[in-house]
Amino acid sequence: MSARKSPKKNTANTISSGKIAAPSQTGSSPGGEFERAGQAADFIFSQTSVRPRIALVLGSGLGAFADEFASATKIPYAKIPRFPQSTAIGHAGKLVIGKVGTIPVVAMQGRVHLYEGYSSKEVAFPIRVFARMGVQAVILTNAAGGIKREFVQGRLVVISDHINLQGVNPLIGPNDERFGLRFHDMTSAYDRRFREMTVAEGNRLGIGMHEGVYAGLLGPSYETPAEIRYLRAIGADLVGMSTVPEVIAARHSGIRVLGISCVTNAAAGILDRPLNHLEVLETAARVKGQFIGLLKAVIPRIAEAIA
Ligand code: HPA
Repeated sequence: MSARKSPKKNTANTISSGKIAAPSQTGSSPGGEFERAGQAADFIFSQTSVRPRIALVLGSGLGAFADEFASATKIPYAKIPRFPQSTAIGHAGKLVIGKVGTIPVVAMQGRVHLYEGYSSKEVAFPIRVFARMGVQAVILTNAAGGIKREFVQGRLVVISDHINLQGVNPLIGPNDERFGLRFHDMTSAYDRRFREMTVAEGNRLGIGMHEGVYAGLLGPSYETPAEIRYLRAIGADLVGMSTVPEVIAARHSGIRVLGISCVTNAAAGILDRPLNHLEVLETAARVKGQFIGLLKAVIPRIAEAIA
């Protein structure tokens, strides 16, 4: 059974007092990932009475939104049992639980990446914690390079699908059926309704939103122009170094996903100039206002959709 379907109220205590299966080939074992995620969820719930059903992962330079939450509780990742520590510049490394208007939300101000040396499972662990908190929808944001020519610097793009070129998957190893199925569907990984709502809200705000396919690579080096030509040929519109493990873990636990990329630069070789991380952060900072406006418009619609 996934945590989301755990009986009774949405409290970590209730969830973690659920039946613990005997160690078996299903991958459930006391002290395993399910229990560790439950401990982290219990700790988070001991710090706040807010019980969010929507989570956000705020990528490179996009963490500022969480500073606007009402009644916010901020918890450094270092204080949360088993939570991975963010080392990348532009990632604050704090979990913020609070309200957007009247809607309770939990947000990661910064994520961890495979290129920092974390395993795919570690990268996806916060999503496991969200599952144990009873979260039903996650909004994943990232900075990405634009491969499609229209996806110029500063555009916000709704992710319609992804191509996993990271060579790993957070579900490798024994499967814990309390999270989800051994072989779970990824046909509609990026929720169609969430995508439609986001494009509609973006257009209403005059942002001019489009959708695109995100190719997730390992990094940390940016791509070569030849790699970008290859990615375009296989159907990618955007390229980045994150998001894929989180989406896989979220769908495994039945959490609905919205992905939004901020195009911080044209992908390698498209313009005749080198890429650098400063440019990524500067662009993210420049579109911050628009990005926050979009999130504020979309969150109430997602809350309605999962009610
Ligand atoms: N490539 C990979 N990841 C990125 C890029 C890019 O061009 N821009 C921001 N993140």
